[in-house]
Amino acid sequence: MKVVSVINYKGGVGKTTLTANIGAGLAAMGKKVLLIDLDPQASLTFSFFTQDEWLDDLSAKRTIKQWYDTAGDGRAAIKLAELITTPPRVNSLVAGTGGWLDLIASHLDLINTEAILTSAVDPKTGQVPASRYMQVHRRLADGLTDKAFAEYDVVLVDCAPNFNLVTKSAIVASEHLLIPTKPDHLSTRGIDFLGWKVHELVQEYNVHLDETRRRSKAVPRLARPNPAVVFTMVQYYNGDPLGTLGTYISRVRALGVPTFNTMIRDRKAVFAAAPEYGVPAILAANHDTSAELRQLVDEFLTWTGRTPES
Ligand SMILES: Nc1ncnc2c1ncn2[C@@H]1O[C@H](COP(=O)(O)OP(=O)(O)OP(=O)(O)O)[C@@H](O)[C@H]1O
Ligand SMILES: [Mg+2]
Repeated sequence: MKVVSVINYKGGVGKTTLTANIGAGLAAMGKKVLLIDLDPQASLTFSFFTQDEWLDDLSAKRTIKQWYDTAGDGRAAIKLAELITTPPRVNSLVAGTGGWLDLIASHLDLINTEAILTSAVDPKTGQVPASRYMQVHRRLADGLTDKAFAEYDVVLVDCAPNFNLVTKSAIVASEHLLIPTKPDHLSTRGIDFLGWKVHELVQEYNVHLDETRRRSKAVPRLARPNPAVVFTMVQYYNGDPLGTLGTYISRVRALGVPTFNTMIRDRKAVFAAAPEYGVPAILAANHDTSAELRQLVDEFLTWTGRTPES
């Protein structure tokens, strides 16, 4: 099982679109895929379920909100695996391949769970006890060790455009970080920032780990997840990225972060409508965008086959 977070502090860069399409593309190739929606906007959830399905079947008991809400507060613990759902329409299209696509849904009220940590601050020291820090940061990583998840080839985690505790718990659980990016000034600056924040998190985590390790050596040190940038919404002119876009693409490559060769072109008409039908664009026949997305999925498989950098 490979855990990949799809992440970028910048909003609207195509994180959810790529999570849905890569997930569906992998399932169509026979892979067993789990998507986890960690964004309170719940766009990934609503890419596969209708509002009515969510309200009737999921919202009250089967979303990631209920699971984060009960993080060590004494309430009856929900197992992460109990939240797994199987979206019907996309699975009817991949049936027969041996693969399938499951989803853990999000909730519009998924709060910033930073409050869980704040409430754990020791009034005498002003610090969060290391054991509590580890517990909340490892919540997703520990949840995914349940044997119910062993059957998945890939777990893709769609993160919200922020760096709060829920997002940090996704990074802690991930071997790989897929970073969708638009080739423009603000988006490319965000990559540097993200790299720095991930570096800070890994250091902070390992300091807390060392404190708790005096008691137990069961948890390994955290290595920096393996990042890669994929350019999205790229506009072309005569076969090349339009105008200054090429400059931003070169600038990101110069940062030394690996980048996917496949870039996803700007196709509003294709991507805007897909979520309404519960089937990502990659499974819709007759447009060149689905071929481009399949190429991205091939590259994704090669990328995740590599061992993470430390
Ligand atoms: N290649 C593309 N070409 C044109 N439009 C796209 C493309 N990819 C995504 N979009 C559209 O851009 C918008 C934002 O995409 P998406 O929701 O995937 O981004 P996001 O990074 O997940 O956003 P957020 O940060 O809010 O979670 C959506 O309306 C989507 O349909
Ligand atoms: Mg999103």
